[in-house]
Amino acid sequence: MAAAKIAPSMLSSDFANLASEAERMVRLGADWLHMDIMDGHFVPNLTIGAPVIQSLRKHTKAYLDCHLMVTNPSDYVEPFGKAGASGFTFHIEVARDNWQDLIQSIKSKGMRPGVSLRPGTPVEEVFPLVEAENPVELVLVMTVEPGFGGQKFMPEMMDKVRTLRKKYPSLDIEVDGGLGPSTIDVAAAAGANCIVAGSSIFGAADPGAVISVLRKSVEGSQNKN
Ligand code: DX5
Ligand code: ZN
Repeated sequence: MAAAKIAPSMLSSDFANLASEAERMVRLGADWLHMDIMDGHFVPNLTIGAPVIQSLRKHTKAYLDCHLMVTNPSDYVEPFGKAGASGFTFHIEVARDNWQDLIQSIKSKGMRPGVSLRPGTPVEEVFPLVEAENPVELVLVMTVEPGFGGQKFMPEMMDKVRTLRKKYPSLDIEVDGGLGPSTIDVAAAAGANCIVAGSSIFGAADPGAVISVLRKSVEGSQNKN
């Protein structure tokens, strides 16, 4: 069974105090730190790049779960590997022709490869990447249109999660966008085990309690199956 991983989205943290925000999240029970990399092209927003990952890496040993919302993911593999990224998740919409090479190079730089899909992209598109000889190790199902934190969870994306969980019982299946105490139960029941949450954690009076609610929901659903 794929273990529960709770990944606060640092996009909702205080970027001016990234090191202490990272330390705070780990202390409050985060398993991974989710880093949203946006290039102002694949999505309208522009966030952070490899230099920031490199700076943060000097302050934390945490697993840095990098989600690359960029048009040319292959350009970023080497810099992110050098910077100390742990996971490198690219979007299938921009890697239809070169995902095999991309997975290979991500692994060769010591990172864990993942693939993400936008809400409008059919789940079937990622099957070949999970079934490849050199496969991705995580599938990130977007539950909002990528680009910004604080959007509304799209429950209709749970069909994708259910399909993936049925086919791949031990795959890391991550959900991202609009997750929090009021939406976690449907995502957990569908089979998601990696939970990204930005505004619901950073906006809470007690972020540690939210992390633990998310974890309990995932673990509770897994125990039922
Ligand atoms: C959206 C990002 C998310 C975002 C989630 O493009 O990929 O990681 O920060 O934020 P919330 O949890 O606020 O929807
Ligand atoms: Zn993300």
